[in-house]
Amino acid sequence: MSWRSLALAGFMAGTLAMTASMRATTPGEEKDSTAVTFNKDVLPVLQKNCQSCHRPGEIAPMSFLTYKDARPWAKAIKAAVVSRKMPPWFADPKYGHFANDRTLSDSTISTLVAWADNGALEGDAKDAPPPVTFVDGWSFKPDMIIEMPKDIPLPATGTINYKSILVKVNFPEDLWVVAADLRPGNAAAVHHMRAIVRPPGSTWMKDAEPGVAYEGGDPEVGRQGEGTDLLGKFNPGLGGQDFSMFDSAKFVPKGSDIVFSMHYTATGKATTDRSKLGLVFAKKAPKLKYYVSDGPTASNLAIPAGDSNAEVVSEMTAQADTQLVYLQPHMHLRGKDYEVRLISPSGESKTIFKAKWDFNWQLGFDLEKPLPIAKGTRIVGIAHFDNSANNKYNPDPAKLVVWGPQNWEEMQNCFMGFLVDPNLKNPRTLFRATGPSLLPRGTSGPTLSTLVSN
Ligand code: HEC
Repeated sequence: MSWRSLALAGFMAGTLAMTASMRATTPGEEKDSTAVTFNKDVLPVLQKNCQSCHRPGEIAPMSFLTYKDARPWAKAIKAAVVSRKMPPWFADPKYGHFANDRTLSDSTISTLVAWADNGALEGDAKDAPPPVTFVDGWSFKPDMIIEMPKDIPLPATGTINYKSILVKVNFPEDLWVVAADLRPGNAAAVHHMRAIVRPPGSTWMKDAEPGVAYEGGDPEVGRQGEGTDLLGKFNPGLGGQDFSMFDSAKFVPKGSDIVFSMHYTATGKATTDRSKLGLVFAKKAPKLKYYVSDGPTASNLAIPAGDSNAEVVSEMTAQADTQLVYLQPHMHLRGKDYEVRLISPSGESKTIFKAKWDFNWQLGFDLEKPLPIAKGTRIVGIAHFDNSANNKYNPDPAKLVVWGPQNWEEMQNCFMGFLVDPNLKNPRTLFRATGPSLLPRGTSGPTLSTLVSN
């Protein structure tokens, strides 16, 4: 059983309570809605949909763990769910079904509204579901915690370049990881971070002193190194990552080390960070290896100054049959939306995913069912960027923007999780950049017009 299904089992009682409240709010029975209480109706909803972020030490500014915490926010909760500002979820429901879909049902929204409108009652303590336990802030109980060995000093102001920090883990045996969770040591300073597996024999950072932050070179180069693999990520709203959904897991070879790739932002005062990675191991070898690819990538992108809807297209082609299970678009401050299309070897084109982009929320989308990708299928990423002055996040509308790691530069890729044969030595060979992704940089695009037709 995965940690996700364990957590869900805890919500079963809550689901029953929600069904009861649905009945209480059918039209014509408004009087019954006074019976809606925190313990019986609201807490189960908060546990299932909100506490992943609304708890101490997480990214939301207030906790919704208890009645005392949530009561002052009753009206704000009503407003946030009615406007669908909360919980954050950006996938267009026309394309794909997602296991981690946070969209609230209309009946759940009515329950929260009825609660807020009728005195936000606490109700009977015996109606409350057991609290969800977050072990020391982790999304699940880790079997192993890998912490940076030293505090990383951070300046009060200015740009902080990406930092790579080696931790000599020297994993004692081959291991299968079913879940990974990265926890910032200093939540205000960590913008995002990644944990990368450095397999034995890799020359990446071979002379690095463990625990020391290195800025030399492009961090992206390291990540592309032979055999290295992305194990876990931290972004606002992403949460712990589950790799076990399809009898699958990530592989960490014996003797591997971990490199933390950190993107910090200055907080206004000199501070430090010491972040950590929690891992849950599979009890037995899984059927399939879960591999995360950078996906279609437009490192040749060019976004004209002032353009409010600049199109940028990227493409990669599957070199063998595989299955897609996860999508996480990636752009910076000018990103607007991201679409993924599959073009079959016979030329049929199909949109499988479309989502709004919001830099503050870099969400990941778990497909409910694996999507087969046949050898020769082209995976196309189509993004739009707003480089006009109307984009309030735009650092400089007067600038032609190209690919780069800093926020005022741009990226266009979509991290993708695939299920592959556990014996496949180097999953990177599964995909090759093709079409628009191979073009030299122009003054805009590459756009859809550069797609090769079959
Ligand atoms: C993925 C993380 C995440 C989830 C899940 C989430 N929130 Fe939030 N919430 C935030 C963050 C971060 C903020 C503060 C920033 C903002 O307002 O955008 C916030 C702000 C809020 C606010 C204040 C809004 C305002 O306009 O001031 C309310 C109310 C709220 N959330 C309610 C909820 C409820 C109710 C749920 C579940 C049904 C929920 N949130 C789920 C992260 C989350």
